[in-house]
Amino acid sequence: MTLLWLESSLPMVRIDRNHPASLQRQIYDLIREAILGGALAPGTRIPSTRSLAAELGIARITASNAFDQLIAEGYLETRKGDGTYVGRTLPDDLLALPEDPRLGTRVRPPQLPSHRGQALERLWDQGVYQKAGLRPFQMDAPALDAFPFELWGRLESRHLDRSAAMNLAYCDPAGHPPLREAIAAHLRAHRAMACDPGQIIITHGSRQALNLAAQVLLDPGDAAWIEDPVCPDARTAFTCAGAHLVPVPVDEQGLDVAQGEALAPGARLAYVTPSHQFPLGVTLSLSRRLELLDWAFRAQAWIVEDDFDGEFRYAGKPLASLHGLDRQARVIYLGTFSRALFPGLRLGYMVVPQDLAKAFRSARALADRGSSLVPQMALTDFFNEGHFQRHLRRMRIVYGERRNVLVEAIRQSLGHLLSVRVPDSGLDLVADLEAGSGDVALVRQLARGGIKLIALSSLYQRTPSRSGLVFGFAGFPERSLRAGIGRMVELLGEPG
Ligand SMILES: Cc1ncc(COP(=O)(O)O)c(C=O)c1O
Repeated sequence: MTLLWLESSLPMVRIDRNHPASLQRQIYDLIREAILGGALAPGTRIPSTRSLAAELGIARITASNAFDQLIAEGYLETRKGDGTYVGRTLPDDLLALPEDPRLGTRVRPPQLPSHRGQALERLWDQGVYQKAGLRPFQMDAPALDAFPFELWGRLESRHLDRSAAMNLAYCDPAGHPPLREAIAAHLRAHRAMACDPGQIIITHGSRQALNLAAQVLLDPGDAAWIEDPVCPDARTAFTCAGAHLVPVPVDEQGLDVAQGEALAPGARLAYVTPSHQFPLGVTLSLSRRLELLDWAFRAQAWIVEDDFDGEFRYAGKPLASLHGLDRQARVIYLGTFSRALFPGLRLGYMVVPQDLAKAFRSARALADRGSSLVPQMALTDFFNEGHFQRHLRRMRIVYGERRNVLVEAIRQSLGHLLSVRVPDSGLDLVADLEAGSGDVALVRQLARGGIKLIALSSLYQRTPSRSGLVFGFAGFPERSLRAGIGRMVELLGEPG
């Protein structure tokens, strides 16, 4: 390391020959920081590159290159025949950060994001996205161990052929047309939905679809019903659109429509998970479905149907969607491949009323110009060659078995603490704690031991009526589920 004090005007110059940054970069950084930090005021004379190079024992070209960069960026300027100066036109009162009068130190002003930004910060703090690998009983993981990756790889590479260079270009922002046709055919056959490929918008999962729906359907201040309890992402998507959220209780029949009407009859939108309410797992009853559609028609409101795991029903066929009952074009249906295939694929879709298709397509284009084409083409083949239905059939069996193993393990080892019912659909389940027990503290304690659960009470907006743990079972083979419950027993035996 060389340490020098240059008499002229440069403060302590430190260059370190062992530093990974080049000497030129070190000189550049030092002078730039000195100017931005206020140590070198505008108009100050700087030593010549010749004297700097001599004092530091470096090649002159190294010092000249650093100066050239600083001149090009406006930090330094040369005066003909008179040497180099700190740029005179730099607003010196804007260069240094303000002083804190009490501490006498330079302080950074507080960074206050918008209300939207603050809602996003709160969502981050809930830890939803801070994942460290796959931990039992993460609820958003399908069986990655059972996915046919080789087949998927073959389907993708088919479309990465040199002769098909067009596949690497931008595609239709609403999605690859043959994929939209395949999805429309699937929905007609399996979810009783009469829809046209023109109504389908491919998205980056249902989370993007939620954000698009919030953006296209809501104006700031509009009231929006959300289920209570609800998935935090849905809550935040609508909050960020400036909506006034109206939490509507969920009972054994799903969303309580009468209470929604009593709380906010003129709401502009209702968000529901009818096939498998997240997180309680109940199905919206037929009478409630009809009530909800009737309210939406009278109020001219939209219904956002999030059908994130409707394919997985263990007794009988998947239920018909709410969209399939809609005769007034009030329902926006969201589907995803995150659970049916794998979440890293980041592909989902929405089915929107014909009249809204243009606005949604445009919102999708504006958001990110559409999804990558090659995975969409692979997915089209996956549908058209029958793999999708085959995979779902296999997975229903695997998940049904995993569900049974988890329920049995909870009952056997944690039955004194948790009561659990066997869900007939979905990839997660709720185990209730005794009323009044703190699920949030319990989840924190278990997280420290590598167990990932969600506290049921944290998903409520109003005073929680239940306390419990949300378990995902799909992503873990039977021995991992048993080991996870064993680990919980161990952790619960330790002082919290
Ligand atoms: C309520 C709900 N909707 C949707 C999803 C899927 O989101 P995405 O399709 O963006 O992966 C999940 C996944 O965990 C969910 O819990």
